[in-house]
Amino acid sequence: ATQRTLSIIKPDAVAKNAIGEIISRFEKADLQVVAAKMLKLDDDKAGGFYAEHKERPFFKDLVGFMTSGPVVVQVLEGEDAIAKNRELMGATNPKEAAPGTIRADFAETIDANAVHGSDSPESAEREIAYFFGADEICPR
Ligand code: CMP
Repeated sequence: ATQRTLSIIKPDAVAKNAIGEIISRFEKADLQVVAAKMLKLDDDKAGGFYAEHKERPFFKDLVGFMTSGPVVVQVLEGEDAIAKNRELMGATNPKEAAPGTIRADFAETIDANAVHGSDSPESAEREIAYFFGADEICPR
């Protein structure tokens, strides 16, 4: 079925000037960008986004990294978009990411791992609404 998912190009990939190369991979896989913006997250916005990880030992480093530079948040739409995006991204830890995936090609560490993608329909719905109003999403 057609789905929407939230994608974030993280500060490390933006700093590498890889925004276009990453979005190109989405487009070549038949995912359409139906919303996009560049943002500099603050502690509250990044912490709220990752609220489910609040008690995890890596939370502070995660928020510190996500606020270290601009990010590009996008809504991707397409057939099976959530799983498709996760396949394109590869494993969370770039050392475990399959060859040819975004994280294998662009990421260095588990925090600086280039991209985020929603992991379920429920998180996609929450994450999209966290960054975009309905009037900012432009289906073709
Ligand atoms: P992301 O998909 O954005 O969701 C949470 C992020 O926490 C994850 O990518 C990683 O960048 C980061 N992270 C850091 N350490 C860990 C860990 N041990 N397990 C999972 N995620 C981690």
